Amino acid sequence: MKPFTILVVDDEKIQRESLSGFLRKKGYRVLSAQNYDAGYNAVKENTIDLILTDVKMGGKSGYELLRSVKELNPEITVIIMTAYGNVEEAVAAMKDGAYDYLTKPLDLDEVELLIHRALQFKLLKSENQELRQKLEAKHRFTNIITNSPLMEEVLNVAVRSANSKTSILIEGESGTGKELIARAIHYASPRKDKPLIVVNCAAITESLIESELFGHEKGAFTGAVQARAGRVEKADGGTLFLDEVGDVPLSVQVKLLRFLQFGEFQRLGSNQTLKVDVRLIAATNRDLHEMIARNQFREDFYYRLNVINIQVPPLRKRKEDIPLLIDHFIKKYAQENHKDVRSISREAFDLLMKYDYPGNVRELENLIERAVVLARSDIIEKEDLPVQFHVKESQKTSAPPLDFYPGNIREKIEAFEKDLIARALKEANFNQSKAARNLGISERNLRYKMQKYGLKNS
Ligand SMILES: Nc1ncnc2c1ncn2[C@@H]1O[C@H](COP(=O)(O)OP(=O)(O)OP(=O)(O)O)[C@@H](O)[C@H]1O
Ligand SMILES: [Mg+2]
Repeated sequence: MKPFTILVVDDEKIQRESLSGFLRKKGYRVLSAQNYDAGYNAVKENTIDLILTDVKMGGKSGYELLRSVKELNPEITVIIMTAYGNVEEAVAAMKDGAYDYLTKPLDLDEVELLIHRALQFKLLKSENQELRQKLEAKHRFTNIITNSPLMEEVLNVAVRSANSKTSILIEGESGTGKELIARAIHYASPRKDKPLIVVNCAAITESLIESELFGHEKGAFTGAVQARAGRVEKADGGTLFLDEVGDVPLSVQVKLLRFLQFGEFQRLGSNQTLKVDVRLIAATNRDLHEMIARNQFREDFYYRLNVINIQVPPLRKRKEDIPLLIDHFIKKYAQENHKDVRSISREAFDLLMKYDYPGNVRELENLIERAVVLARSDIIEKEDLPVQFHVKESQKTSAPPLDFYPGNIREKIEAFEKDLIARALKEANFNQSKAARNLGISERNLRYKMQKYGLKNS
């Protein structure tokens, strides 16, 4: 890391030189100046991180230097060095942007400590800013890859809604990019420097979801050993993204509804009403209308959420996105895995274009990641795709629909087992030991199962 640059401004030569020498020894790059003009010029001509300035130095004072410097570049840290009797003035200077002050005669340990702290703070601030910029860049709308008019329309609504505080409901199948869109909305909104709090409602057990969202007081329930702010409170000024909102229990829906109407809520176990400013975005892959019909979702809550509705189309309805996404994911995973993979063979490409993608973009992404890792050359071949992609059409047996076998899962498994045994027997021409071998079970076990399912040996 490059050393920090400190400017020492003092009209007393001995003071100036001993302080500069001390700081140089501590590893800083040090410039010095004997009055306001020299100091101000040094700031204009150099990149300076921190200034230590005397107050009285003939001509304009250190306070004037502080104001001029802050006008020029508010990022420069200024520390005032003042006589013990004039501390009040120095404190007042902090309103003009001074970071702190030191009293003369200087205690060098104190000087070092204060400078170290000031620069550390600066470093953190700039790192923070950098991280935030990276995050923002990562979640731009322009990073959402699409070529489809259907999707363009969706993104158009999303972009236009970013500036408002209106609630948004994003609906779409799993893996279509709902979360991607929610994040892009937050980072395109005036709330982007405030938190985006994501709550996956399906991942939190029903009994905990209320306290997770609204927080709780100490002792509100067994296990609440400490008071805790909920996610709603943490999102103040920012955006709350309720993922899988269909999984929110009815009792909590009421509270969210009230929160949406008035911005008010209470922590669990508290009578105090809190108010925050939060924008709500919700997403779901469930059919909320159907849930309303079954009394599993509150209609009033639905209408409050659904002020702006965004329907993210499944990938099979925007196949023109597939080539772009393939390209994008090849680049991404080639880089991540340090591989030279650049493209995809015609055959593999055709297979990917024909596929239906029940798991949507996420599924395509996983397919490409896997293929890039497995690829033996710089081209993805069809062999690099999972096996279901290269079995011949004639060999394909599609799994039966869920209601093919009756009953609950246990009954379905049993019916399926009966089916398998009957088939194995038939294929082995009712040679029991052959059938047992093909099924990977003992003959005794086979006979037991035949008896259980009432299968005859012919
Ligand atoms: N248009 C797109 N461009 C680039 N990447 C995308 C696009 N759409 C989705 N993805 C990627 O696909 C994956 C799934 O997206 P996301 O998590 O937003 O989907 P989702 O709709 O929230 O899914 P789920 O319902 O399963 O939570 C992510 O890795 C995301 O980065
Ligand atoms: Mg999601």
